[in-house]
Amino acid sequence: MKRLDRETIQKVIDTADIVEVVSDFVTLKRSGSSYIGLCPFHNERTPSFSVSKSKGICKCFSCGKGGNTINFLMELEHLSYQEAIRWLAKKYNIEIKEHEVSEKEREADNLRESLYAANQFALDHFEHNMSDTDEGRNVGYEYFRERGINDEMIRRFHLGYSMKRNNALTTAATAAGYDEKYLLATGLSGKSERDNSLYDKYRERVMYPIFSVSGRVIGFGGRILSKEKSAAKYINSPENEIYHKSYTLYGLYQAKQAIVKQDRCILVEGYMDVISMHQAGIENVVASSGTSLTEDQIRLIHRFTSNVTVIYDSDPAGIHASLRGIDMLLAEGLNVKVLLLPEGDDPDSFAQSHSTSEIEAYIKENEADFMLFKTQILMKGKENDPVGRAEAIKDIVNSIAAIPDPITRAVYIKDCSRMMEIPEKTITLQVNKRSNELVETRRKRKDSSADIERTEPDNTSVIEVPVDNSLHTEPVADDLAVICRPYETELVKYIVRLGATIICTAFNEDGTEKPVTTVEYVEMNLAEDGISFHNPDLEHTFLAAAELVKTRFRDDSAAIIAELEEIRTKEINDETEKFRQSLEGDIDINKIKVREEQIEATANGNFERAYRDFELSYIYRNLGFVEDSTIMRMVNDFYSDKFVLSKYHTKYAQVPTEYDQRADIIQRAIFELKSAIINHQMKELSETMKSLDRNAPDYNDQVTQLLLELSKLSEIKGQFARALGERIVLPRSLR
Ligand code: CTP
Ligand code: MN
Repeated sequence: MKRLDRETIQKVIDTADIVEVVSDFVTLKRSGSSYIGLCPFHNERTPSFSVSKSKGICKCFSCGKGGNTINFLMELEHLSYQEAIRWLAKKYNIEIKEHEVSEKEREADNLRESLYAANQFALDHFEHNMSDTDEGRNVGYEYFRERGINDEMIRRFHLGYSMKRNNALTTAATAAGYDEKYLLATGLSGKSERDNSLYDKYRERVMYPIFSVSGRVIGFGGRILSKEKSAAKYINSPENEIYHKSYTLYGLYQAKQAIVKQDRCILVEGYMDVISMHQAGIENVVASSGTSLTEDQIRLIHRFTSNVTVIYDSDPAGIHASLRGIDMLLAEGLNVKVLLLPEGDDPDSFAQSHSTSEIEAYIKENEADFMLFKTQILMKGKENDPVGRAEAIKDIVNSIAAIPDPITRAVYIKDCSRMMEIPEKTITLQVNKRSNELVETRRKRKDSSADIERTEPDNTSVIEVPVDNSLHTEPVADDLAVICRPYETELVKYIVRLGATIICTAFNEDGTEKPVTTVEYVEMNLAEDGISFHNPDLEHTFLAAAELVKTRFRDDSAAIIAELEEIRTKEINDETEKFRQSLEGDIDINKIKVREEQIEATANGNFERAYRDFELSYIYRNLGFVEDSTIMRMVNDFYSDKFVLSKYHTKYAQVPTEYDQRADIIQRAIFELKSAIINHQMKELSETMKSLDRNAPDYNDQVTQLLLELSKLSEIKGQFARALGERIVLPRSLR
C-alpha cells in the first residue's frame, strides 16, 4: 500500500466537517451553539455526546471519548490513521495522491500484500469447498452442523473445509498464478523433500480463518476430523510477516464492536468457544487460541476495553495453570473477573445448551472479582497449614504488587486483609517491598531490552497491530515517573492549550523586546533546574510542541498578523465610509471623533480576538491531526478538556479565562512538578540517613553530609515557593 501525500492529508483535514462525519454514525440534534446525540462509544439513554462545529471537536461528557474527525473515526471504527484519512477522502470525494514508498518499504509491502492475497485465495477456496463440493458438504459442513453451528456463523467466521486430496489448494493456487514462495510462507503448502513438489498442508480438516483487527485474513487453524491419534489436532499457520501468533486474538475482528459497546472483553480458549458464544448472542468474546496469554495480546485487548472476564472450565488444573495469565492482565492495568462454568462444561458446550438470557444471567451471578477468587482458591483447605498459608499469601501479595494503579492496589489490600484475617499494614508492607523489586527488575529489563531493540532487524513495519500506542498504554514502572505523572500531565495539558501564547517579554542584548512563548518559557525554566520529564509519552508530546513553536510559530504568527491587519484596515475604512455617508451633511466634529474612535476600538477588539483564537488553537491545529498517535490523542484530550469546561462558563459572568490567568497557572504547574521531585529526593535522603550504620567510624560525617544536602533541597524548595508569589520570574537565560 502506498502512503498518502501530505497534501492530500491536509486537504482532507481541512475539508472534513465534524458534524457531518459524526452524523454518519449518530443522530444529532441542535442544542444552542453545538449539537448533541447519544454517545456511540457506550450505551446510554440520555444524550451526552456533544459536537462543536466551530471547534471541530466532539466529546462525550459521560465517558470522555471523542476528539476531532480523525480521532473519532479511528476510535469508533478502529481504523488506522491512514485508513481514517482514506475514509474521509472517499466521503468528500477528495482525490487521493500517494507518494512512492522507499524501495525497502515497498518490498516489505509487496511481500505482505502477496501473503494476504494467498491467504484470501485459500479462504475463498476453503469456503467454496464446503458449500459447493460433495465432499465438503458431507464432511465439513456436516461436522459444523453436528456441533450445532448455524449458517450465519459459518458465514460470519468464514468457516471452510480443506479437501482430502493431496494438493487441491496448491494446484488451484498455482494455476491462479500464486507464486510458490508465498504458498510456502503462509504455510498453506509444504515442499516434499523427495521430489521438491508442493503439497497441501491442510487436508481433510475444517478451517478456521484468523483475521487481523481490520478484517484481513492472516492465517488459519485447521482442525482434524479423523480420530487418527498420530496427527496433530490443529495445524496452525506459521509465523510470518503478517501472522504473529502472540499479537493475535481469535475472533477480535468480529468481537471488537461488541467489546467497545459493552466495555468488556470475554476471554476463552478455543475457536469453537468463540463461535458458539457468538451464536448464543454473546459477541464480545475472543480466544487466546490455547497458548498462554502474551503481553501483546493483553495490550491488544486494552485498546478496546479495560475490563476482562476470563472464562474457565471448572477443572482445577486449568485454573491453576492460568493464574499466571491473569496476573499479567492485572499487571497491564486491566480489571479482571473470573467466571467458573458448571462442572464438565466449556464455553462451547455451555453456550450450545443455554439461551442468551440464561447465559447472561449465569455470567451476572457467577462472575467473581479475580483477586477474591484467587484468594479463595489458594486459601482453601489451608486453615490449619501455616506453611501453605504463607505460600498463598506470598502469591497473592505478588499479584497485588503487580497492579499499576495505587488506588486499585489499596482496595485489594483491604479486601485481602479482611479475607485472610491479616492486618492491612502487614500486607501493605509486603506489597510495597515486592513492588519495589518489580520496579527494579523492570528497570533492568528495560536497560537490556534497549540493546536488543537496537540489534534486532527493523520489523516493526510488518506487524499489523500498531505498535505506536505502546507509549500511552504502558504503565511506567519507574517510581519517580509515577510520582511525577499527574504534575507532568498538568503541565503538558497547559502547554497544549497555552503553549503558543506569549507569556512574558525578555530583552535582547540590543535592548529590543523579545516575546517569550509559554512552551519556551517552560522548557527553559525546567532546564535550568536540570529537570526533565519522567514519563516518555508526556515528554514526547511536550518536545513536539516545543519544536513546533520554536521552528514555525514566529513565521506563522507574522503571517496571520499581516492578514488580520489587512482585515482591520478594511473594516475601519468600510465602517468609516458607511458612517460618513450616514452623516448627510451633519458635521459635528465631536460626534465624528467619538464614532471614529468607536470604530477603531471595535476593529482592534476583533483583531485581538482573532489573534487570541489563533494562539490558543495553534498547537491543537498543528499537532491534533498528526499520524503519531501518542501526540494526537494527548493533544485532543487536553484540548477538548477545555471545551468541556467551557460548558460551565456562562455567557454573562466575566470569569477570568485560562488565558488571562496563564502566568499563574503555568508558574504553579512548574512549581508543583519541581516540588514533587524535590520531596522525593528529600525522602530518599532521609531514608538513607535512617539506614546508616550508627557504629561506623564516619557516621557523623555522613550524617552531616546528608543534612547539608537536605537543607540545600529545602532551600531550593523555599525558592520555588517564593517564586510562586512573584508571578512570572524570568529564567536566568532571559534575564
Ligand atoms: N490449539 C492449537 N493446537 C492444538 C491444540 C489446541 O492451536 N494442538 C488451540 C486452538 O486454538 C484451540 C484451543 O487451543 O481452539 C483449545 O484447544 P482444545 O480445547 O484442545 O480444542 P477446542 O477448541 O476445544 O476444540 P474442539 O472443541 O473442536 O475439540
Ligand atoms: Mn472444545
